[in-house]
Amino acid sequence: MPFSLDAFSLKGKVAIVTGAGARQRSIGAAYADGLCAAGAAVLVADLNGAGAEAVAKELAARGGTALGTQVDISDPASVQRMVEKANQAFGGIDILVNNAALMVELAYKPIIATPLEEWNRLMAVNVNGALLCSQAAVPYMRKRGGGRIINQVSGGAYPATSAYGISKLALVGITTTLARELGPDKITVNAIAPGNVASEAGKLSAPEAFLQMLRQTVALRPTGEPEELVGALLLLASPAGSWITGQVLHIDGGWVLRP
Ligand SMILES: NC(=O)c1ccc[n+]([C@@H]2O[C@H](COP(=O)([O-])OP(=O)(O)OC[C@H]3O[C@@H](n4cnc5c(N)ncnc54)[C@H](O)[C@@H]3O)[C@@H](O)[C@H]2O)c1
Repeated sequence: MPFSLDAFSLKGKVAIVTGAGARQRSIGAAYADGLCAAGAAVLVADLNGAGAEAVAKELAARGGTALGTQVDISDPASVQRMVEKANQAFGGIDILVNNAALMVELAYKPIIATPLEEWNRLMAVNVNGALLCSQAAVPYMRKRGGGRIINQVSGGAYPATSAYGISKLALVGITTTLARELGPDKITVNAIAPGNVASEAGKLSAPEAFLQMLRQTVALRPTGEPEELVGALLLLASPAGSWITGQVLHIDGGWVLRP
């Protein structure tokens, strides 16, 4: 069959993007915008409910189909309300983007000196949160005969320098394991690992020493824009990515280079 660019269309699909509401310029908002532009109806969900609604209003004003909602992804009851809202508003769920995370909120500490309470909160959001959202969304995807889960990890998972990195490594593990478990349901599960991105939070959480290291190692520009991740998301979310699962796509200008 000849290839058609329609394979990238998300017309008739329903997507949830978590973590798209707290800050002026965020990766989640760029993701929600890209999904709308490809034709999906999008539920924008964030701990900051007013922020999520503001992002959704902006998308709707530009002709997209979008709604905002408050969610705490570490709370199973709140996550359940989120998926029910998407189902009620748009008639199902096809795509889940697990993008919400604690990052800019974290003060750097060696893990040997990280209090258990801080460690548990980080894992509750960055690891358990993505699993809870997946567990809640998958029954709806099964009803649709398939689906897409895209987990936002990070190049920061690999240098072995932070509890945040460990949380993202765990999410890589969830990605590969869920990919195997959900393959028979025609649900693909992949991850995007960005390098340093010039979201508001990204700018606040990149110390000069880190940027200096990136300038010396990254093949292209050391810092990318949120919109530069959207092409990868649309590939993984659309029929064009139907045979891709269990993968981590590094969108980082050529920072993490592995054979
Ligand atoms: N900016 C970067 O350089 C960069 C690089 C690699 C990976 N990432 C990842 O990309 C994603 C988005 O990053 P961003 O730069 O747009 O940051 P951001 O802080 O703007 O986005 C994270 C969002 O998650 C939300 N959130 C936090 N806890 C939550 C909870 N319990 N329930 C629901 N929502 C919650 C926050 O309110 C915020 O809106 C994160 O997963 C981050 O780890 C960012």
